[in-house]
Amino acid sequence: MKNKILVTGGTGYIGSHTVVELQNSGYEVVIVDNLSNSRADVVDNIEKVSGIRPIFEQLDCLDYEGLNQLFTKHKGIKGIIHFAASKAVGESVQKPLLYYRNNLVSLINLLELMPKHGVEGIIFSSSCTVYGQPDILPVTESAPTKVAESPYGNTKQINEEIIRDYVKSGAPIRSVLLRYFNPIGAHPSALLGELPNGVPQNLIPFLTQTAIGIREQLSVFGDDYNTPDGSCIRDYINVVDLAKAHVIAMDRIMQQKQVEPVEVFNIGTGKGLSVLELIHAFENATGVKLNYKIVGRRAGDIEQVWANPDRANNVLGWKAESTIEDTLRSAWAWQQKLREEGIQ
Ligand code: NAD
Ligand code: WQD
Repeated sequence: MKNKILVTGGTGYIGSHTVVELQNSGYEVVIVDNLSNSRADVVDNIEKVSGIRPIFEQLDCLDYEGLNQLFTKHKGIKGIIHFAASKAVGESVQKPLLYYRNNLVSLINLLELMPKHGVEGIIFSSSCTVYGQPDILPVTESAPTKVAESPYGNTKQINEEIIRDYVKSGAPIRSVLLRYFNPIGAHPSALLGELPNGVPQNLIPFLTQTAIGIREQLSVFGDDYNTPDGSCIRDYINVVDLAKAHVIAMDRIMQQKQVEPVEVFNIGTGKGLSVLELIHAFENATGVKLNYKIVGRRAGDIEQVWANPDRANNVLGWKAESTIEDTLRSAWAWQQKLREEGIQ
């Protein structure tokens, strides 16, 4: 058995997939989640997939004393993967203080408790949103960060800085910042996936809900961008591939292989796909025709961004493996599973 790892937000979309991969690779997992954006029965599905039931504690990362007691109760936690955060970009514009409090204070609580309980390393869920519209594509980790488009994006930038400043101050911890591009898809078992709250704001859940008839029509936000087909370009990364990057990064922290105490990696495929290309890939992969319409641009959208994943490929030894067709089929299977269960 490898070390004991705390996964905050471990019943959420990316967290649940990562718990499975950590368990598959021999780590013992303790999940903390306040269930503000996920359900307790995700723990059952994690167990069905991996054959191991993770420890689950319903707790808010804003609760410093609760976290303190958790580290005492589950002695020997050596690493943290910190997913817990509020993540809806639009909502963050409406409720900035909620976002700043939840996303900043949760991290500060964990960082403060790490040395006290002998926790050596933390992986932080960052985002390609820190790059804004990059000047050079594909974007590398050394590209400058741009003024954030939303309070949510700003919390990612500030959290990265908090970690850097804390380590610079001499705190005895190591960290890996993973900048995710656009995570999509679901576990191939269709037992884990994304559970969007209300009307989805992100492309894939809206697309699969349209395909199954929950939404009448998918709006494509703009076809007049400076891209080959006029629609926006993103780097869509399979969620299981993304989960595996966390395991490799945790191995690196635990084995003290880091060259710098804080390292940053882009986690993407290195391939940009336009919205229209993605729609056609979905139709080809699943045989389902989509009802979509071109509408005006969405405020705040970046025109195009995709990763240069060379550092993750060469230094971490991680590479995105899934095809976009397999990933889209997994998203579709997950949507059908939700329908079977009467959830959506
Ligand atoms: P998610 O909402 O599915 O998962 C987050 C989990 O954290 C949820 O289960 C929620 O209940 C929990 N949570 C929130 N605040 C909490 C708190 N104070 N205490 C305890 N639990 C709390 O989101 P996700 O898509 O899995 O994202 C995970 C992380 O990755 C987030 O930090 C997000 O900002 C980041 N990220 C996500 C994307 C994306 O497109 N999904 C892209 C880049 C970065
Ligand atoms: C993808 C593309 C839309 C919905 C957001 C956050 C980012 C990161 C990932 C966390 C865009 C287009 C979408 C629709 C559409 N999250 N679209 N019709 O905006 O790249 O990134 O999630 O860190 O911070 O900003 O993802 O899935 O919303 O959009 O045409 O109904 O699909 O314009 O080009 P985005 P998305």
